[in-house]
Amino acid sequence: MSQPPALCRLDDIPDGGATAVDASLVDGEESLILLRRGEQVHGYLNVCPHAGRRLDYAPGKFLLKNDTLICAVHGATFNQGDGLCIAGPCRGEHLRTVAVQVDEGEVRLA
Ligand code: FES
Repeated sequence: MSQPPALCRLDDIPDGGATAVDASLVDGEESLILLRRGEQVHGYLNVCPHAGRRLDYAPGKFLLKNDTLICAVHGATFNQGDGLCIAGPCRGEHLRTVAVQVDEGEVRLA
């Protein structure tokens, strides 16, 4: 089985930071949020459950505070680790997880 194409290199994401990449998913081309913590990367759809907007304030630039990610549109606040909205207009909803893996320094869809 051939590997899915790399989304980016692990080193393209600052440790403790995030970036946005485009990926081909079953539903078509989507923007993903990739959050890095050391060698680990969490992936989510870059679609806010509140109003369906992107969460970044500029492409690939996210508001990160402590262990949360804050939607730049109306301030919904999500746990980085599980995507749960803990404050703001869509409290209790989740970002949609997209499984990713790190393989030889490359981030790929899992
Ligand atoms: S679209 Fe994200 S908080 Fe409204």
